[in-house]
Amino acid sequence: MNHLRKLLHFVKPYRVQSILSLVLLTVMALLDLSIPRLIQHIIDQGIKQNDLSVVIQTSAWMLSISVLSTLAAIGNNVYSIQVGEGTARDIREALFTKIQDFSYGNLDRFTTGKLMVRLSSDTTAIQRLFQVSLRIGTRGPLLMIGSVILMFNTSPHLAISIFPLLLVTAGVIIFFSIKMEPFYRSVQQKLDRLNTVLQENIAGARLVKAFVRADYEAERFEVANEDFTERNVQVMQFMSSMTPILTLFVNIGIVLVIWLGGLQSISGDLSLGQIVAFTNYLLTTMTPLLLMTMLSNVWANGTASAQRVNEVFETMPEVPVNPQARVLPSQNAMQVEFKDVSFHYNGKSNRLVLEHINLKAEPGSTVAILGATGAGKSSLINLIPHFYEASQGQVLIDGIDIRDIQDESLLEQIGIVPQESILFSGTVRENICYGRPEAGDDEVIAAAKAAQAHDFIIKFSEGYNSHVEERGANLSGGQKQRLAIARAILPHPRLLILDDSTSAVDVETETKIQTALQENLKDCTRFVVAQRISTVLNADKIIVLDHGKIAAEGTHSELMKFSPIYREIYESQLGNGIQA
Ligand SMILES: Nc1ncnc2c1ncn2[C@@H]1O[C@H](COP(=O)(O)OP(=O)(O)OP(=O)(O)O)[C@@H](O)[C@H]1O
Ligand SMILES: [Mg+2]
Repeated sequence: MNHLRKLLHFVKPYRVQSILSLVLLTVMALLDLSIPRLIQHIIDQGIKQNDLSVVIQTSAWMLSISVLSTLAAIGNNVYSIQVGEGTARDIREALFTKIQDFSYGNLDRFTTGKLMVRLSSDTTAIQRLFQVSLRIGTRGPLLMIGSVILMFNTSPHLAISIFPLLLVTAGVIIFFSIKMEPFYRSVQQKLDRLNTVLQENIAGARLVKAFVRADYEAERFEVANEDFTERNVQVMQFMSSMTPILTLFVNIGIVLVIWLGGLQSISGDLSLGQIVAFTNYLLTTMTPLLLMTMLSNVWANGTASAQRVNEVFETMPEVPVNPQARVLPSQNAMQVEFKDVSFHYNGKSNRLVLEHINLKAEPGSTVAILGATGAGKSSLINLIPHFYEASQGQVLIDGIDIRDIQDESLLEQIGIVPQESILFSGTVRENICYGRPEAGDDEVIAAAKAAQAHDFIIKFSEGYNSHVEERGANLSGGQKQRLAIARAILPHPRLLILDDSTSAVDVETETKIQTALQENLKDCTRFVVAQRISTVLNADKIIVLDHGKIAAEGTHSELMKFSPIYREIYESQLGNGIQA
């Protein structure tokens, strides 16, 4: 309930439509309530008195009321759909915007699958809740209370006799609704589980194939699927036992009314019309009860979804936004300094992955970072664009604390090639100019040439207009990396970060890329993460990272002289007589 209240402001822009739809719903209920009275009139004043004009007149009334009621129902549908769809669109949009503000740390915790479910099926469940509430909302209680009042009005004596039965029926419905609530919740949980298994499987379909785990996955899916089905069957069976029970109560009620009413009618206390009207009202009390059970289903789903959607809305960006932050002036090459920086991810362990890092990259220099897998190389360079915030110490850009710099202005001046090349579906050209869509053809070609991508691009049948599949599925690893490099250097960044970006490229091409970057990117500082020593030979400064600490620092020749750990790496890779 509380979670729904928090989402209520999304309905606000549609309050006129909401009110209109509820007004129409009320009109509909009131019109429906008048029908049994008219039937009573036809029987008592028309048929019994042999007065044709009353029959015709009243029938005309009934017809008009039915038409009006239908119009009101259509109007209610139109407005409630507008409210539901509009609200869902706004929630999706707000979620999307919110996710854009997530920092890397937030994205580590909310996986793609989780976010997709929140944007799709959860939003739909909330939409259904609003829509169905507007269609049933006032109608249920109005029909129920109205028909009970009108039963008393028709014949207090009969109404009192039938009242205990009504109470028992209401009790049964309330009992069912309360019992159903946890059932619906668990169905929702099983569905979640099913979705998770599905998403993991589709995302990792290749891996499943590669490791011949299809049988295992099929089994896992079957378990989840079976579980969900079983629960659903239980709920359906429980639900379906309710309708016959209610029908039984109604039938008992009708028999009672006809029997008691018949006795009264014989003694002249009650007219035939009254008996018919009374049975009609009795039937009308049951409709809303059935509607309510449907509503409770939609509510259980909707509130569970609202809770999950709110989880996203309530997540604070892990890298806080500083309102006092300044725009970073764009001068020549960037200076980057780490001052006693330590860092841990906000996970379960909070283990330090970087410890007391002191490092200075002078403008225009190249800093290479070498180290075993898991040493903390990516973690270190991810602190420079403020993707994560240092847990201790300071990162300074041009002498300014990174927390005082507006993130956007910082990112505009940095070119990043992440360790995993991510490409979007679109043309080759669109991918290269992702950071600057207005770039001219000559700029695109220049960037591609420097990244040694031009040659393979023009061999594609449509050159720069060739289509890149989602995540670059139709490209080789090395081709993806080179497109990612071209994309990063196109806007002439003041700082270029290459995270193991030439790992899938042969040594010769790598050298060509390095030379071209040297020539094309003047006024640019570089951070190059590498596994291969050949990549880092010419760097101004080489850092050897070991278990999150700087184990050695210097130029290639210095390190060869003074650092045993560097010499060891060198010898293991290039030691067999190959000289750089
Ligand atoms: N998003 C994350 N959340 C939690 N822990 C992480 C995250 N990313 C990395 N780690 C942990 O931090 C440590 C350093 O990882 P990092 O990715 O910086 O290593 P790396 O030197 O770049 O390795 P590689 O050469 O394999 O890319 C590892 O122990 C890893 O388990
Ligand atoms: Mg890495």
